[in-house]
Amino acid sequence: MKLRTKFSLFSSILVIIIIAGVSIFLFIAEKRLLIKEMKEKQITMIRGFAQVSRESLISKDQISLLNYVSSLKKERGVVYTVLVDDQKNITAHSDLAMLGSEVTDDVGIKAFEAQDLLVQHFKDKDGQEIADTALPVIIGGKRAATARIGFSQDVLNAIIKKTLDNTRNRIFGVAGVALLLGIFGSFILAQVMTGPIKQMTEGAKLIGQGKLDTVIDVKSKDELGDLAEDLNLMANQLKELDQMKSDFVSSVTHELRSPMTSIGMNLDLFLEGAFGKLNEEQHNTLKVMRDNASRLGRFINDLLDVAKLERGKMEINPAPMDVNPAIAGPAELAKVQANSKNIDLVIEIPEGVPQVNIDSDRIQQVVTNLLSNAIKFTPEKGKITVKVQDNDEKFLQVSVCDTGMGIPKDQINKVFEKFEQVKGARKQVKGPKGTGLGLAIVKALVELHKGKIWAESEVGKGTCFHFTIPKA
Ligand SMILES: Nc1ncnc2c1ncn2[C@@H]1O[C@H](COP(=O)(O)OP(=O)(O)O)[C@@H](O)[C@H]1O
Ligand SMILES: [Mg+2]
Repeated sequence: MKLRTKFSLFSSILVIIIIAGVSIFLFIAEKRLLIKEMKEKQITMIRGFAQVSRESLISKDQISLLNYVSSLKKERGVVYTVLVDDQKNITAHSDLAMLGSEVTDDVGIKAFEAQDLLVQHFKDKDGQEIADTALPVIIGGKRAATARIGFSQDVLNAIIKKTLDNTRNRIFGVAGVALLLGIFGSFILAQVMTGPIKQMTEGAKLIGQGKLDTVIDVKSKDELGDLAEDLNLMANQLKELDQMKSDFVSSVTHELRSPMTSIGMNLDLFLEGAFGKLNEEQHNTLKVMRDNASRLGRFINDLLDVAKLERGKMEINPAPMDVNPAIAGPAELAKVQANSKNIDLVIEIPEGVPQVNIDSDRIQQVVTNLLSNAIKFTPEKGKITVKVQDNDEKFLQVSVCDTGMGIPKDQINKVFEKFEQVKGARKQVKGPKGTGLGLAIVKALVELHKGKIWAESEVGKGTCFHFTIPKA
């Protein structure tokens, strides 16, 4: 899972949990508040009723008491209102038919005997749940009557439910909007956070590929910014080290080149008999020395070329010319070496191919390198073909194909990197093993000509290296 996805998922879940928590809390708090308000209202009503009853008992005003009783009955949730005198007789009732009768039911007796506010829950004969609220009416320190109001619990519950439904809908609405904003916000935040990380990953990848000039452009003034700065610093130091290494290799190889050349030339003179006739043993030993010296000389030249290429100091001098000398020339020279291994070397250059715009020496170096590989990695009695094809508007394609050991698919692009050799291939080669610099130089030289190089290969069947050179 991507960091950005993880981050937005995590913060979205967090937002959902917070909003759900807050909503539940609000809902419960609202419910408690409602119930409390209801109870307070009931108490206020019963106190008001007791007060009015007291006043009308004192002033013996039966009419206004009855009026008050029936007005109370109109309040929502009120099922009945009763005033019972000190003889348990009903002196006022919202149901006029009850007037004058004596209280005998359980709830009525308990209410009559209670010294203070008493709330009793019971079910009436219709099965309706009632909260009976009773309060004594005291006149001159003595209980003169008992005021009672019956509230319907079902009606009260319905009122609470309706209010809570409204509250819930409102909370859902607000929570929905908050959720959308929260998720959107966390997505944006994730983007902002992971943007620089992505930039750094890409930068680090480039640095890893050896592109040490990479500068990671993260400007934020936080840990990510610091990390980017450190990565840039690291790349810079790597670049300096790389430069030092290249300079060192280049100066050492320069120092080695002249003595090597001199050793080679003198050995040649010896072998030509310039210092007297050699016996066979002397001749053979000197020949081995000369071969080693020239191999070392080639390695030194390769190292110098690589150093030059890496510093961007390699220059080519392209000029319009026929393709033949640059391609067929080195191929003809390689025939001797190929024939000594019983390898058939065929050159196929069609008549009338257009001229090319190349640095002849450098393209000859490319062909020589590819041919020396082909000869090295092809067993006896194999075949090597050097071919030129005119299959593009701007480029000619040159191919060097062999019937040798081939290159495994997973390594076919790696062989163009310096010091890379196919694993296990060295063991199968007789004679000098090479150093893995050849193809790196070849690739760079082809690319300096704006051409491309690629390989096709099948293990055990053979390999083709193709490259393109620009037409004049
Ligand atoms: N024609 C070929 N057939 C098979 N393998 C090859 C061929 N050319 C190159 N290779 C593989 O690519 C590697 C790199 O080649 P190169 O850069 O010329 O280095 P070197 O020849 O010094 O080993 C070789 O070591 C070999 O494993
Ligand atoms: Mg080679």
